[in-house]
Amino acid sequence: MRNINNIILLIVVGLAVSSIANANQCPAGMCKGDNDCASSYCMNGAGKTPNPQGCFYCHVNIPTKKIADGVEMPMAGLGTWTYNNSMAYDAVSKALNLGYTHIDCALGYQNQESVGKALKDSKRERSTYFITSKIPGGLNFSAATASMELSLQQLGLDYVDLMLVHFPAAWSGQGGKMLRLEEWRAMEAFQKSGKAKAIGVSHYCRRHLEDILSINTVPIAVNQVQYHIGMGMEGPNATDDKQFCDEHGITYESFSPLCGPCGKDAHMELITGKMVTDIGKKYGKSGAQVSLKWQVQQGIPVIPRSDSVDHLLENIDLFNWKLSEEDMNTLTQSKSPPVAGDGPNSGDCSVL
Ligand SMILES: NC(=O)c1ccc[n+]([C@@H]2O[C@H](COP(=O)([O-])OP(=O)(O)OC[C@H]3O[C@@H](n4cnc5c(N)ncnc54)[C@H](OP(=O)(O)O)[C@@H]3O)[C@@H](O)[C@H]2O)c1
Repeated sequence: MRNINNIILLIVVGLAVSSIANANQCPAGMCKGDNDCASSYCMNGAGKTPNPQGCFYCHVNIPTKKIADGVEMPMAGLGTWTYNNSMAYDAVSKALNLGYTHIDCALGYQNQESVGKALKDSKRERSTYFITSKIPGGLNFSAATASMELSLQQLGLDYVDLMLVHFPAAWSGQGGKMLRLEEWRAMEAFQKSGKAKAIGVSHYCRRHLEDILSINTVPIAVNQVQYHIGMGMEGPNATDDKQFCDEHGITYESFSPLCGPCGKDAHMELITGKMVTDIGKKYGKSGAQVSLKWQVQQGIPVIPRSDSVDHLLENIDLFNWKLSEEDMNTLTQSKSPPVAGDGPNSGDCSVL
């Protein structure tokens, strides 16, 4: 009888010990304290939400690129295009919880108030994240200024890290060089007032950039354009404007890095396609990570959109591994998927 009692006692103690051990175990990449994170620290500070087991995420170090004096853009961020307000709140909250440091927004996305609420609810220090916003093209000085003020108000911020003119003209194509220059002057005034740390443009081709370069007193920090596998690294399949941007100190930033708006087949080619998944297997990474890595390895910041925690985690796991030269070449030589929109070059050069 005594022996049986001892055995039961041992089983009970064993179960208790093993449940304590399990309680302290977290999935890979998650933690309860710094010791659980191999090469970083545990994000168990204010505003972070643990999983049901009480595990937090280990900090992921996202490198930055200098885009202007004293302004560093994180090399990977979250896109927010197409999200309604609740999706934007959800995706931005998840991303901030995972340690994202860069969110790409725009007045035209009509969801900046939800982005602002997610930023506020995260309780993160303002200095720990980089926010880009955009105002429509083709605006005169006062309309441009009012749009930038509205963006700040919607985001609930005193300043954005980067403000872009979304398009070289109004979406209808109206505006031309005259308004392009007037709008840029408003951007400069906004930057000089401290409400944008840096200013830049989007969808600009070389001719549009040259317009600004003929009058600017503040450098164009960034040109945000469509860029993904299928466009190569240099013309004519890639945009010639990349080289022009590099030569003029303008950071060439990729939008739609996974070809999100290119149609289902083209988009999936960069996620589950044979080329990217075969290469990914060599590194233990997904096809999407290979597609993004091809860009960041060239020094091009990416802003993939996702509201899935698994995808969000993948999309910042780009920096402690490297594609071989041979694999980079294979990806560069691919002519597929094609660039969506305005002909073989990104930058909407048909806009007057
Ligand atoms: N300046 C401009 O005019 C302009 C134009 C277009 C885009 N942008 C910016 O660029 C951002 C990104 O471009 P985008 O929104 O066109 O599309 P994208 O980022 O190229 O692709 C988004 C799609 O990829 C999926 N995805 C993301 N990560 C994935 C992963 N690791 N594995 C599998 N699927 C993944 C997402 O689905 P899940 O949610 O299921 O992950 C989503 O359906 C925009 O949101 C916007 O901020 C700017």
